[in-house]
Amino acid sequence: MDYKNIVVLTGAGISAESGIPVFRSETGLWENHRIEDVCVPAALVRNPKLVHDFYNGMRRSLKDKKPNPAHFALAKLQKEWTAKGGTVTLVTQNIDDLHEKAGSTGIIHMHGELNSIWCTACNRRFPYFEDSTPESVCPYCGKKALRPDIVFFEETPYRLDEITRALNRCDLFLSIGTSGVVYPAAAFCQYAGARGAQCIEFNLDVSAGAAYFDYGLYGKASETLPRFVDELVEKGTLLRPQSWQG
Ligand code: APR
Repeated sequence: MDYKNIVVLTGAGISAESGIPVFRSETGLWENHRIEDVCVPAALVRNPKLVHDFYNGMRRSLKDKKPNPAHFALAKLQKEWTAKGGTVTLVTQNIDDLHEKAGSTGIIHMHGELNSIWCTACNRRFPYFEDSTPESVCPYCGKKALRPDIVFFEETPYRLDEITRALNRCDLFLSIGTSGVVYPAAAFCQYAGARGAQCIEFNLDVSAGAAYFDYGLYGKASETLPRFVDELVEKGTLLRPQSWQG
């Protein structure tokens, strides 16, 4: 096969068809809430209950959400590509659990996870599936210092070292359902491309960073991605758009 090490970056668009709203659209999550009320560190000081309630609602809504064919396609890619001796590093900006539900493993949740909580007193992060409040007690240290395990704006995403190592060695970079406006994730394509990786985006429309990709496959990820993965896994070649002139 032409490729060995693959890095996949996913964003809210991959979960849209599972009924989880994207962040930036006319009906998107950030249209209904001010980011500075729920997704910056100062919000936890100003109105911690509002922050906890916001993520409680999202966590509860995950319970009935199911992965769609795009999530399953990535789980298949990871399983079959690894069996052929390659690697697939799955990095997601999403805080939902749909990659896990689809069977993917080793997922890097660079922006945190709804089903996790962080004790800022003892610095433990651990699985958490209930509602939290500013009064919730850490089961490890007994302090009332739990906060949603979400990377807020102004904070540093998780596991950037691992992501950088994977980008350094990847020869194929796939970006799926992300608007390409939030950094550092938005720069992964440029980073991987500068090191010689082939870079492809999957989106409904041309994204803000489209110019940095070799090409894009446009349409619903639940339709474009399974076809792409089948082609890659079975033939080791890339599905290209009809109009691609490379
Ligand atoms: N298939 C493919 N792409 C889709 C689909 C679909 N079915 N539906 C929507 N999209 C695309 C949209 O065109 C858009 O480009 O998904 C993208 C979603 O963009 P955003 O809402 O900006 O989400 P994302 O890029 O993941 O946001 C990045 O910003 O607000 C922060 O921390 C939050 O992780 C989030 C980060």
